[in-house]
Amino acid sequence: MLRTHTTKEAAQLDGEEVKVCGWIHDIRVLGKIAFIILRDRYGFAQLTLIRSIVGKEKFKEYTKLTRESVICAKGKVQKTKQAKLGFEILPEEIEVLNRAESPLPLGVADKVSADLETRIENRFLDLRKREVLAVFEIRSTILQGIREYLLNQNFVEVHTPKIVATATEGGTELFPVKYFEKDAYLNQSPQLYKQVLMAAGLDRVLEVAPAFRAEEHNTTRHLNEFISIDIEMSFADEEDAMYMLEGSIVNAIKKLKEERKEEMEILGMNWEVPSLPFKRITYDEALEIVRKKGIDMEWGEDFSTEALKALGSELQEFYFITRWPMEIKPFYVLPDGKYSHAFDLMYGEREITSGAQRNHVYESLVEVMRSKGLNPENFEYYLRAFRYGMPPHAGWGLGLERLVMIITGVKNIRECVIFPRDRTRLVP
Ligand code: 4AD
Repeated sequence: MLRTHTTKEAAQLDGEEVKVCGWIHDIRVLGKIAFIILRDRYGFAQLTLIRSIVGKEKFKEYTKLTRESVICAKGKVQKTKQAKLGFEILPEEIEVLNRAESPLPLGVADKVSADLETRIENRFLDLRKREVLAVFEIRSTILQGIREYLLNQNFVEVHTPKIVATATEGGTELFPVKYFEKDAYLNQSPQLYKQVLMAAGLDRVLEVAPAFRAEEHNTTRHLNEFISIDIEMSFADEEDAMYMLEGSIVNAIKKLKEERKEEMEILGMNWEVPSLPFKRITYDEALEIVRKKGIDMEWGEDFSTEALKALGSELQEFYFITRWPMEIKPFYVLPDGKYSHAFDLMYGEREITSGAQRNHVYESLVEVMRSKGLNPENFEYYLRAFRYGMPPHAGWGLGLERLVMIITGVKNIRECVIFPRDRTRLVP
C-alpha cells in the first residue's frame, strides 16, 4: 500500500503514525524548520520538517523540491493549534515519487486564475484546484441522485448505439462517420431506440450516454458532445414523465445537501430543496408573459433568446412549459389538434429538458412525419415497432451539463465538462 491515510483521514488523528501521499502545494522555509503543504483530493496536510531530525542534506533536498511534485511522507500526526490546519505531520523522510517541471504553465495551478481556454488546455493542472474539482464532484452526485431515484422507480438502465443510420432531432446537426462501406452518423439522441424498447415491453428505460450535435454556434450553453439522461416509460402520459423528472431533480438536490456540504460552500451554492410539484405554465401563458414584457411574438414561434430572458426575469425557479404548438415540436410527439403533449423543463431563462407523451399510433405518426417533410422509408426499423403492439408511452431527455450549470451557478457550460467538445476543440 503506497499510502495509509488521505489528508482528511489524517486530520482526524492524533499521535498515530500515517503515510500520506499527494502533491506539493507550497513550501515555506524558516531557517531550521520548513513546512510543506501537501495536497490530495480530500484536502491538505502540513508536513513539518525539522532540520535536526531529517538531517542537513535531506533538509536541503526537500526544501528545493518543485511545487506540484508528487511525494509521500511517513510520520506521526500531531494536533496543534499553531498549524493553520489544526494538525501537522512530522516526517523523518520524504519519498519523492515524481518531480514536476518548473515553472508551471502560467496561472494554471495558481490562485491567479487563467482564462478558460488556457485552463482547459491544462486541465490536469486546472483540476488540482479545489473550486474546479468541486464542480465535478457535484456533477457526479447530481447524476447519482437522478439515477438512484429512477432505479428506485423500476427503470432499467440500457445503452443504445451511438453510431446510427438516421437523424432523430432534425437532419442538420449530424456528424457524419464512415462505417465501413456505409454512411453513418453519431447519434443526436437515443429517442428512436428508447421508443422501440417500449414496443419490446421493457416498460421503463433509463439511459445516460453521450449525445452528439454538430451545432455550428459557439455559445456558453451549447456543446457538441453532451451527456443526455433519457427516460422512456410505457402506459404513461406527459404528467407521469414530468413527475419522474421533478422527483429526480429534487432527489439530486437533497443528496447534494446531505453529501456535498463542503463543495457547495466552496462554490457559494445556496440551495433549498425545491418544493413539489414544480410550477406548470402552458405555452399560451408563457407567450402572454413575454408579450406583456413588450416583446413581439407570434403564436407558434419558438421563444427567442430575448423572450426567454423575459420569462426568466419572472420565473427564477424550476418550471414546466406545457401544451406546445405541434408545429415546433418533433414528429414523435403526440399531437392534440394544433397543440401537443410536449413539455420543456426550464429554470429561469434556460431550457434543461424536453419531453412529451409520444404518438404511439402508426398511421398518425406516418402522417405527421410526411407533414414535416420526412420520408417514413428512412425510419423503417423504428416504424415497424409501431405495427406490432406499441403501448402509449412518454419520456424526456435532460442535458446533464445544463442542469449542473444551473445547480452550481457556473456561467459557461464548458466549466461542467472535463474535456469539452466545442466548435473548435478536439484536443485535449
Ligand atoms: O431538446 P432536445 O434536443 O430533445 C431531445 O433530444 C429529445 N429526444 C428528448 C426527449 O426525450 N423528448 O435535447 C434535450 C436536452 C435539452 O433540453 C438540453 O438540456 C440538452 O438536451 N441539449 C444540449 N446540451 C448541451 N449542448 C447541446 N448542444 C445540447 N442540445 C441539447
